[in-house]
Amino acid sequence: MLPSEADAIEREKWLSAGSEITTMLLQGSPEEDVLEHIVTVARDIADAETAGLVLPGLRGELVMEIVHGWNAHELLGLVMPREGLSWTALRTGKAKIIPSLAKARNLSHPEMRKFGPALYAPMGTTEKPVGVLVLLRKVGEESFITKDLERASSFADQAALALVLSEARQAQDLSKLVEERERIARDLHDLAIQQLFATGMQLEVVRRRAARGLDKAGLIAILDEALDNVDNSVREIRSIVHSLRDPDAATGIVERLRRESALARTGLGFAPSLVISLDGQDLGALDEAEDTIDSMISKSLSDDILAVVREGLANSARHAQAQSVAVRVSFHSSPAPGEPGRVDIEVEDDGIGLKDVSGRKSGTWNLAARARQHGGAYALDNSPTGRGALLTWTAPISGVQAISPTTVP
Ligand SMILES: Nc1ncnc2c1ncn2[C@@H]1O[C@H](COP(=O)(O)OP(=O)(O)OP(=O)(O)O)[C@@H](O)[C@H]1O
Ligand SMILES: [Mg+2]
Repeated sequence: MLPSEADAIEREKWLSAGSEITTMLLQGSPEEDVLEHIVTVARDIADAETAGLVLPGLRGELVMEIVHGWNAHELLGLVMPREGLSWTALRTGKAKIIPSLAKARNLSHPEMRKFGPALYAPMGTTEKPVGVLVLLRKVGEESFITKDLERASSFADQAALALVLSEARQAQDLSKLVEERERIARDLHDLAIQQLFATGMQLEVVRRRAARGLDKAGLIAILDEALDNVDNSVREIRSIVHSLRDPDAATGIVERLRRESALARTGLGFAPSLVISLDGQDLGALDEAEDTIDSMISKSLSDDILAVVREGLANSARHAQAQSVAVRVSFHSSPAPGEPGRVDIEVEDDGIGLKDVSGRKSGTWNLAARARQHGGAYALDNSPTGRGALLTWTAPISGVQAISPTTVP
């Protein structure tokens, strides 16, 4: 192959990698998958030994969060120094080539010094930092050249733009969800609760009159009216619950959990981590897993799983003063014919922990009741890590009752 041909092919690869990222985001791929993909393709096309993505952490620091290739394990989690190459790339908005990190001055991480040529391409701006793409080669290998710099940085720009746009779209989706919840709360308050309140007043009148021994016929008339109102309230609540369930009726549990954890971001002030697994394997690695899980669990178990995670996240947001919350939902399929599978849920935070375990209110009482209904178990305790609280909830998965869009109650 002529050098010019090879060059044209490489350019083509960078361009199509850029549009692949946009397509992935438009198709709704999770952001983590997209970030992983950015690192994998960039490493491959740039012929780098190692590629990494430096991303903003919780406290505004820059952390090497995704790394692929040689010595990746040593680089993972490195916090980049304020005056270092990553910060400079982000601050100036300019990509930079370093002929050799091994020979660079003022490099604070010895792990980085094991590499030779390097390329730092910023993604986003200082105001809206997405991250920095870092490409590394071994000591003694050919340095990156201007052409690599231009191509890698326009790829990084395109990927950053796609990520920022997708985030804006997610924020829009989220605000729709919040609006929907507010509407439901309003409906409950304005329709059902008002009606029950009025019924309560009618019953109060009956009680007073009965106490004075008055007017039997009048009392019966008021009681009849109150009973009608109770019927109406039941209908009202049923229709509100219906409208609450309907949009989700055809949605799988995995997607519902993802939405729930995205929603919790508002209350917590940060995104909780969510790990869903099937038979010990994290989802994401398994394409078919989402459908398999939905075919294992009933609608009512799906609703309960969601309610447990929701209450766990709400409690962490309200009581824990946590800096991070991890949600783990593990599905285990039936070990042998006739034996039930199992779902285990854990919501763990690193907050202040439980001050008084006896302070149980309706939230945790409901979780215990939901566990009992399925023959499962529930516990809320201080986390064994010594910080924060750990909620555990487990239930057997009995029989195959696939969730079907037609089984709405
Ligand atoms: N993650 C947590 N960190 C610290 N304390 C917690 C946590 N979760 C629960 N608690 C404590 O346990 C108590 C009981 O929780 P529970 O969910 O039953 O009630 P609640 O959240 O106060 O009210 P609600 O009935 O609205 O849920 C809380 O009031 C709180 O003191
Ligand atoms: Mg609660």
